[in-house]
Amino acid sequence: MATNRVSTGIPTLDRITGGGLIPGKTYLVTGETGVGKTILSLHFLMDGLKRGEKVAYVSLDERINGVLDGAMTLGWDFWTYYKEGRFFPFEIRIYSEDLGRYRKDSRAYIDTIIKMTRGGEVSRIVLDPISAMAFGAADDFAVREYIREIILYLEERIGATTILTCDIPSGSTQLSRFGYEEYLSSGVVVLGLLNLDGRLVRTLLVRKMRWSSADHSVYTFDIVRGRGIVIGPTLRALQQRQAALPSASPSPSRGQGVQVGSSEEAMKDSSPT
Ligand SMILES: Nc1ncnc2c1ncn2[C@@H]1O[C@H](COP(=O)(O)OP(=O)(O)OP(=O)(O)O)[C@@H](O)[C@H]1O
Ligand SMILES: [Mg+2]
Repeated sequence: MATNRVSTGIPTLDRITGGGLIPGKTYLVTGETGVGKTILSLHFLMDGLKRGEKVAYVSLDERINGVLDGAMTLGWDFWTYYKEGRFFPFEIRIYSEDLGRYRKDSRAYIDTIIKMTRGGEVSRIVLDPISAMAFGAADDFAVREYIREIILYLEERIGATTILTCDIPSGSTQLSRFGYEEYLSSGVVVLGLLNLDGRLVRTLLVRKMRWSSADHSVYTFDIVRGRGIVIGPTLRALQQRQAALPSASPSPSRGQGVQVGSSEEAMKDSSPT
């Protein structure tokens, strides 16, 4: 990874993104529900913590305790860093009526983050999911301006490298909930789930990565207990391997046939929440 880049916490993803993330910039991780957006963003935060940094996780729709206890199943003990005072997890709810006053309230939102992180001395921030900010809002323009200002203030006032997660409706081909967030972000990673011959396969695509020579192939990945995201072969390579299997054995038994990534076991957990 280039020395002036920030690691995603997943070495293969650093390579695919063309060297990692640009410090101080904002990135979008997008996809339908259950595809692994929160887990990817926790990789990024855990990497910062292991490097001795201070990081913040802002939950917009899930209880913090649930997220941090869930992270334990992947082998990440965020509680220890919380007690050390380097990990700042908190919940911020945003109501649609606030969006009408976006100029005032987007500043207040960033002020809250700065206050909660005791002066904003954090190097990494995750807002999960940014789409929850505008849930139920009737005015698209207000939503867009609100999100635009949040990103602007995050970059200007805090300067942390930021991941925003964004959930898109199931079956949608959109990149983001409001069709605007991807233009504001320096990079977009799209996660998905694909039904390949009756088996759900997780996919990852680096759709956009400013100032980087990214690999734009569709990769497959697993979510593995105790390890998190494990990126495997490209979807194309997986399909070629599958096509090369003898047709006489349509359902490979344990230890034979196609495996995605490094863990056959992980596929058992790959159904969406
Ligand atoms: N310990 C674990 N071992 C294996 N797989 C897991 C484990 N924990 C979670 N998963 C997988 O991760 C999926 C959820 O990932 P995650 O919460 O990151 O998704 P998300 O995209 O953030 O979803 P949402 O949009 O609902 O917030 C689960 O559906 C499950 O398949
Ligand atoms: Mg999530």
